Amino acid sequence: MSENRKVFVKTYGCQMNVYDSERMVAALGPTGYTQTDRVEDADMILLNTCHIREKAAEKVYSELGRLKPLKRDNPDLVIGVAGCVAQAEGEEILRRQPLVDLVVGPQAYHRLPALEQAARAGAKPVDTEFPEEDKFSHLPRGPKMRRAPSAFLTVQEGCDKFCAFCVVPYTRGAEVSRPAERILDEARDLVDRGVREITLLGQNVNAYHGPASGGEWSLAQLIGALADIDGLLRIRFTTSHPNDMQDDLIEAFGSSEKLMPYLHLPVQSGSDRILKAMNRRHTAQNYIDLIERIRTARPDLLLSGDFIVGFPGETEADFQDTLRLVEAVGYGQAYSFKYSARPGTPAAERDEVSDVDKTDRLARLQALLSAQQKAAQEAMVGREVKVLFEKTGRQSGQLVGKSEYLHAVHATCDSARIGAVVPVRITSAAPNSLAGEVI
Ligand code: SAH
Ligand code: SF4
Ligand code: F3S
Repeated sequence: MSENRKVFVKTYGCQMNVYDSERMVAALGPTGYTQTDRVEDADMILLNTCHIREKAAEKVYSELGRLKPLKRDNPDLVIGVAGCVAQAEGEEILRRQPLVDLVVGPQAYHRLPALEQAARAGAKPVDTEFPEEDKFSHLPRGPKMRRAPSAFLTVQEGCDKFCAFCVVPYTRGAEVSRPAERILDEARDLVDRGVREITLLGQNVNAYHGPASGGEWSLAQLIGALADIDGLLRIRFTTSHPNDMQDDLIEAFGSSEKLMPYLHLPVQSGSDRILKAMNRRHTAQNYIDLIERIRTARPDLLLSGDFIVGFPGETEADFQDTLRLVEAVGYGQAYSFKYSARPGTPAAERDEVSDVDKTDRLARLQALLSAQQKAAQEAMVGREVKVLFEKTGRQSGQLVGKSEYLHAVHATCDSARIGAVVPVRITSAAPNSLAGEVI
């Protein structure tokens, strides 16, 4: 193996990118690379980019511009662009920013060692091909390093839903599920390394239908098999589409002790007209009924969602429908965005709602969602939750972790209990975290 080299990875966007960044470092391991968090020490810099927000590509170009002095000081530095902007822009990145040495799309990370070599030889490779087989299957596992108690595991990638506003079907490609046995192997390996909670990842994770013994498994079947792993205490999954919430998955919320009572289920809008224009393929009432069924299975479920305001054609009346849906459903936590046109998506031709209206609607929606979140946080005071402690907190003697509902919780506790699930009585609530006492 070659000399000791260092790679610096900067990650933008969703959890899938966080996961992929880890895999890129792992893929480069056998070629002599270890990760550094000091950009000035790096022999290679990778920007793992996200394309979901407006001007995402522009921001990547200005970030790249800032790397110029580093390249000047170290001509051997390899600069790579990965992630969804890499997939969307491809060759264009090399044209616009000559200091980039390689471009790699999310489906080609297993080829990174070869791309790095080609880049060192001066080739400027661009790889945005989609592979025929599981891109994670031939990744080296490396030495059995201890891991933090909570980890992500990709089970599904890509999306066939084609919501009219979204780039993901173009940047991540068609929906592909990983074979169940590979996922189980990876999960066992994570548990051996100290992981106690696994969050299954996918752009449309509940559409999972992976090859398995006896045919195909649904996400609920996969969760059932994962739950049999000793030492794995908690299972979560994200992100889901309402139309893929199958009966067995809803039942799992009631029957599986390891599946945590938290669900991120984006609805985007409460207006049937806008939902139709968004190509979401369900109505507001379908969603409300679905939530009711899930809450029947798991009454204490904490629900999270995503909303877009100002989608082309959205009127004040449509927006009022969204507010009504939020009132009817009740969220413990949520993300909301102003619509922004993504080039290449069907909705991008039209961007009709003025920014003034978007800003106004977003403020009103966020006021409602924050009030719901605040009430949900305050309702936790006095309650007992089970916290998986993940790390030490800011104050000495303090640990922080997550409740079963994914609240961030801090409490005074012995650091030996990092990785353990500990009962905690909540004593106070802040907007984004809870404080408590170990029982
Ligand atoms: N696969 C996931 C999320 C994909 S992107 C899902 O289906 O929920 C995360 C969120 O970004 C979306 O839920 C949506 O609310 C928001 N988003 C995506 N494209 C957007 C756009 N063009 N403008 C504004 N928000 C957008
Ligand atoms: Fe994008 Fe999610 Fe719609 Fe797929 S389901 S197109 S990832 S918003
Ligand atoms: Fe962004 Fe790509 Fe994830 S566009 S949200 S990094 S799938």
